[in-house]
Parts: sequence; structure tokens; C-alpha cells
Amino acid sequence: MIHTNLIPSWPKERDLACYELFTGLDFEKEILDDMAWIDIGCRTGKALSQIRKKSKAILLGVNAHPIRVRPGIISISATLPEDTDIYEKYKNKMDLVTDIHGAVSYCSNPLEALIYEACLLKHNAQAIIVTLEHRMGEPSSDVFKKIENFFKNTMNQTIEFQPFPSYSDNSKTLIHTMRITIKGKCHSTLSLNNLFLEARQYIGEMRKNKVISEAKDKSAQVWQILYRKNKTSLNNSHCEPF
Ligand SMILES: C[S@@+](CC[C@H](N)C(=O)[O-])C[C@H]1O[C@@H](n2cnc3c(N)ncnc32)[C@H](O)[C@@H]1O
Repeated sequence: MIHTNLIPSWPKERDLACYELFTGLDFEKEILDDMAWIDIGCRTGKALSQIRKKSKAILLGVNAHPIRVRPGIISISATLPEDTDIYEKYKNKMDLVTDIHGAVSYCSNPLEALIYEACLLKHNAQAIIVTLEHRMGEPSSDVFKKIENFFKNTMNQTIEFQPFPSYSDNSKTLIHTMRITIKGKCHSTLSLNNLFLEARQYIGEMRKNKVISEAKDKSAQVWQILYRKNKTSLNNSHCEPF
């Protein structure tokens, strides 16, 4: 949980054009009046508020830090994946979930944040998450395949990983970025905690390896994550490919 009143000094907040570039979505076409879009880690909700001017959709913005969100957006203060309020209230209710360098990037367990966000999707909906490649484990390992199998066999959802290069606003250095797309509704009857447990047993226990990026004032850090099966992990979860 984030227990600080300090708002980290991140680079400039991304606008809708940048969200479009990162997600590959045309938000004006995508967000219809009867839809609901939740942006996890929205900061002031700049991208959401640009859509607010064009659409009557339900727009929700989530922050772990005490950030004032722009008018017309439902502002939620929560730290994923620990705070379960959003899960309880919006499970299977969202048409679009975005997380652009938000919870999956900064939280304690990115795999659990992904599972949490996937649970918010309703039928035919999608979640697009943009984070650093190394948040999901070593690209050379079989972790991506395992995550795909877990989503397919346990959650009945598809998940796709697309690495792409981007550049930091500050130093213009190359950043190995990853777009993660999850589609469909989660059909599992397991509780959120049991989904986390199954994921740990099948994919592995996560371990923080080293800091790969941080806010200028060092108040928020992005850790490289490695997944390791420990010897006590059961190997008989349902998610092995049949
Ligand atoms: C770097 S800002 C990204 C803002 C915006 N998405 C953008 O691209 O400009 C990180 C955002 O993620 C939020 N955040 C960080 N950790 C989080 C967590 N565990 N759960 C929910 N939000 C989190 C922060 O409060 C902040 O709004």
C-alpha cells in the first residue's frame, strides 16, 4: 500500500494522442456513450477528460497517490492489487481498462495487478496495459507462455505481449516497453485470492531483482521482476495446456 502524501515528480502526464500511440486504440471511435472506461493510474485524468468532451461514457480514474482528478471523471483512490474495492464494485462491468505506466508498473506484484484488471472486463471487452518489458519476468524465459496458458485455461481470456520501443521524455533514452492486451470476460469462479494463488503455483513466486526506472525524486520506483517456481509450489494446477 502507498501510505505517503507525496506525489512523485514523474515526467509530463500523457495526453490522449500519446495514449493512442501506446495502446493502438482510436479512443473517439472506441468509447461509445453507453460504455465504461477505467484508467488505472490516471494521474489528473488528462486523456479521460479529452474523451469527456466527446462522449457520455462512464469514465473512472484510479490513483494510488492523492492526486486531484479533472472534472467529469469518477475519481477513485486505491492501490492495486491490495485494495479490493474496485474489484468488488466493478468486476465484469468495464468495457475498457487501461493502465499506462500505472499500477502494473509500480505495484508490488505486476502479475496480480494484471489478473485484477482482467477481472474487471465484461464480455467482448479489453484491457490494454503499457509497462516496461522487465516487469513481467525475463523475456528469454518461458514466463510469457505460462502467463498465456494461465489466462487461457484458468480465466478463459486471451493475453498478448507486444514489445515496442519508446523514449523517455527526460533523457530521450530508449525504453523497452511492452503493450499487454487482455480480451474477453473472466469466467473463473475462483476468488481473486485463489486466482493469485493459482498463478503463483503455475507461473512462480515473484522476486524483485533491481530498480529499472524511478521518479526524479526517487519516491516511486519500477522494479525488474523475476518469477521463480519454489520447490513447494504445486504443479497440478488446471492451467497446463491440455
Ligand atoms: C507515472 S504516473 C502515469 C500517469 C498516466 N497514466 C500517464 O501515462 O501519464 C503513475 C500513476 O499510477 C498510479 N499508481 C502507482 N501505483 C499504483 C497502484 N499500485 N495502484 C493504482 N495506481 C497506482 C499513480 O498514483 C499515478 O497516477
